Amino acid sequence: MSNDDFVVRLVNVSKRYYISESVYVDALINVNLSIHRGEVVIIMGPSGSGKSTLLNIIGMLDRPTNGRVYLDGVDVTDMSEGELAKFRLFKVGFLFQQYNLIQNLTALENVMMPMIMSGLYDRSMAEAKARYLLELVRLTPYATYFPNQLSGGQQQMVALARALALNPSFIIMDEPTGALDPVSASRLLALINVLNRAIGVTMIIATHNPDVAQVGSRVLNIRGGRIYESGVVERINIGSVNVKDMVKAYVEGLKIDLLARKSSRLADDVHRIEQEISRLEEITNG
Ligand SMILES: Nc1ncnc2c1ncn2[C@@H]1O[C@H](COP(=O)(O)OP(=O)(O)OP(=O)(O)O)[C@@H](O)[C@H]1O
Ligand SMILES: [Mg+2]
Repeated sequence: MSNDDFVVRLVNVSKRYYISESVYVDALINVNLSIHRGEVVIIMGPSGSGKSTLLNIIGMLDRPTNGRVYLDGVDVTDMSEGELAKFRLFKVGFLFQQYNLIQNLTALENVMMPMIMSGLYDRSMAEAKARYLLELVRLTPYATYFPNQLSGGQQQMVALARALALNPSFIIMDEPTGALDPVSASRLLALINVLNRAIGVTMIIATHNPDVAQVGSRVLNIRGGRIYESGVVERINIGSVNVKDMVKAYVEGLKIDLLARKSSRLADDVHRIEQEISRLEEITNG
């Protein structure tokens, strides 16, 4: 199989943090990992086992000490900071325990942010797409609210809409339910389930929470910086959520993205997005 078949591929990746010149921590040791498009990979392990280090390397927030990192078939290990920043913006969505929303922007503006930063969307296109994404996460009535006017669960949904803004190749989630109450956590998990199973979004989730593992297609255990694969999981039902409406909102967002890419002559992903739209339209029409 070539590298192109994997969304993420780590080859012999190690990460050593130096505390002082002679004292260091081996946070990852010789990790080999391949993730296919459409997977939800759960990374479980005790505190300090290397989960965040692994996600940070996959999301190119940090570089390995040794080994190679391929994302979407591209070797990003030695990319310059500038190239990485651009690649990261377009390819990776992030969701953190503490939401990391911009406090002086509304929910809608937070979701618009990556689209504006991309230079691909003008303001009205970004706003139109952000509205569809807020609809997808069921937060339309809260579009003009600021983060401190929203519950933790609602803030995390805004963060998820933002993570989806540029149709990333995959979304990285570091303890996404860590700060949520049980009801908000199960809402988030239900949505993760729909995003993956109805829309095909690829996600990589680090967690302590065994409930999160239920939305995974594969669980990896990490201990002392080494990965142990523990196989496939029994998946819960999508349940009663209105999947069709959610897929429709997502497709409308994709159409705007397609327009934006065409009008800015960014040919890169046009074909992939066209295919995705027709695939998802078959689902909603069927
Ligand atoms: N910037 C850093 N400098 C030095 N050591 C670090 C750094 N980041 C992480 N480490 C060390 O690397 C190891 C792995 O840390 P990491 O944050 O990846 O663990 P984790 O599995 O995410 O833990 P938690 O569940 O508590 O979030 C730990 O021993 C940690 O102390
Ligand atoms: Mg961590």
